[in-house]
Parts: sequence; C-alpha cells; structure tokens
Amino acid sequence: MSKPQVFVTRKLSNEVIAMLETVAQVNVWEGDTPVPRAKLLEEIEHADAVLTMLTERVDKELLRRAKKLRIVANMAVGYDNIDVAACKSQGVTVTNTPDVLTEATADLAFALLLATGRRLTEANRFLLAGEWTSWSPYLMAGQSVYGTTLGIIGMGRIGEAVARRAAGFNMRILYHNRNRKEEAEAKTGARLVGLDELLQESDYVVLLTPLTEETRHLMGKREFALMKKSAVFVNVSRGGTVDEAALYEALVSGQIWAAGLDVFAQEPVPLDHPLLSLPNVVALPHIGSATIQTRDEMARLAAANIVAVLSGKEPLTAL
Ligand code: DGY
Repeated sequence: MSKPQVFVTRKLSNEVIAMLETVAQVNVWEGDTPVPRAKLLEEIEHADAVLTMLTERVDKELLRRAKKLRIVANMAVGYDNIDVAACKSQGVTVTNTPDVLTEATADLAFALLLATGRRLTEANRFLLAGEWTSWSPYLMAGQSVYGTTLGIIGMGRIGEAVARRAAGFNMRILYHNRNRKEEAEAKTGARLVGLDELLQESDYVVLLTPLTEETRHLMGKREFALMKKSAVFVNVSRGGTVDEAALYEALVSGQIWAAGLDVFAQEPVPLDHPLLSLPNVVALPHIGSATIQTRDEMARLAAANIVAVLSGKEPLTAL
C-alpha cells in the first residue's frame, strides 16, 4: 500500500519534516509567502493530511476538493481560518497548537503594553531623526505601568499568563470572560467584571479573545467611548475583534491615549492604513508567538498531531 500523503504549506525544519516522513510521503510548499490558493486546492485533492498556517483558509470549497483528507493541523492556537464545523461534518480532524505558545505570546503582549504605554517606538524614531536636543522634564513622557489597573478581555491560557506578569508589576487586574477563572484569581488577585466596568476602570486594556462571530468588532465606538482618556489599548488576538475605524477615531479624538497592535483586520496591514499614520500607535507584524523556540514547538506539535492521526491514534490537541 502506498504511504499517506502530507502537504505542508510552508518551509519547516528538517526535524519536523523527518517526523512526518516516518508515516507519510511529504510534499512541502517551499515558498516564504503563502501557498497560492490554486496550488493548495490542487494539493488537497490527494492529501491525507495538511499542515496549515493561519494564512490558509480551510473552507467548504477546499473541503469539496479534499477526497481523502483526515486531518488539518493548524500551526497556531487560533483557528478562525478554518471552518471547523464543516471539517467535522466531513470527518476531518482539526488540531491547533495550544500551550506551547502561551508564555511567548504573553511576553509579547506585555512587551507591547510597555512599549505603548512608555512610547518606546516613538521615542526611538525621535532619537534616530536627530530631534533629541536636550533632556527635558516631559520629553516622551508616557503612562505609568507599575501599580496601575489592567483589564484582560479573554482570560484563557494567554490571559492568565499576562495576569501573572502584571502581578509582578503590582497591577490591579480585572478580567472579562465567559466563565470564572478561580485558579488565575488565586494566583494573581484578578477579579471577574462585566465588560463595561473593565473598560471604565482600566488603565491598560489587553484584548486576547479568539475571533468568532460573537467577538467580531467586540471593541467598537461604544466600547472605546467607555475607556479612560489616559488608557492604552493592546490587541494581540485577531484584527477582526476590533472596529478599526472606531479605534482610529478614538485615538485621533483623544478618547483613548494610545494603542499597541500586533494584529490587523487585513494582514499584512497596508502601509497607507490610517492607524499606521498615528504617532500613538505601536504596530507589529503579528509576532505574538514568534520566538525561535516557540515556533519550533508549534511546528513539532502540529506534526505530532498528523503522525498520531495517520497512525490511527488520538491527536494530541484536537478541537
Ligand atoms: C496563533 O497561534 O493563533 C497566533 O496568532 C500565531 O502564532
């Protein structure tokens, strides 16, 4: 019998490819940019497994072309790029990569919070532009972080990890979540509150909720209007959770103080996007989990899920 076939949508390490080759014939899209849709549709016809990134859309059109697909292993914790219900109804397992990226993503969320509150990128641009002529009392003065109030929207694993970091900064921690997180509360002193109270009370609001139909544009005009004028908004979830036009208005009108954004509705964000023109926006190219060690772990976990399913075993992290 011929070996099952795996299609990997981006170049990964030899170690990960070798893992897959223990059970399958592996075909890799070698480009550094996403596999073209037409090529993906062609490859999926004879694939038993596909290792995807968040740049690949796994939808009904793709599933119609998949004749023998058994697993979609997404190399991300988020899976809004995948129609999970359609996969399930076709008997296709879907896996993601939770846990292995929790701490790296929380580090990035906290780094972005600090960089935005303390105006790090703006100050760096100021220095490099030769504008630093003397020390002055309020030069690049930002917002305090230590001892302030942090609001976390979406208290999953990453939210809890951000709360642990915030506890080290002596922050009062509020969170908004579907259910109560007693362990996180015990470790960090975090308190469950309604969304409006969180927005009204927080000096820093960090958005970490997954993108679903419920959370699309969760942060809009009404929500930004509830925030303090001195507040900093940080998004490390998905761009679709924010109404970007409303965020732009809130930043320009001084309704909120600054925003740190690792994600955008359209990625890569176009350079002429209004948000990029604002000095009080720190923008990053979706690098939440981007440490070498974490990306290695994510790739290994995605591959391990494929190896398990193709060997007739239970996947490690099925959705
Ligand atoms: C994820 O895993 O969902 C991140 O956004 C990409 O690492």
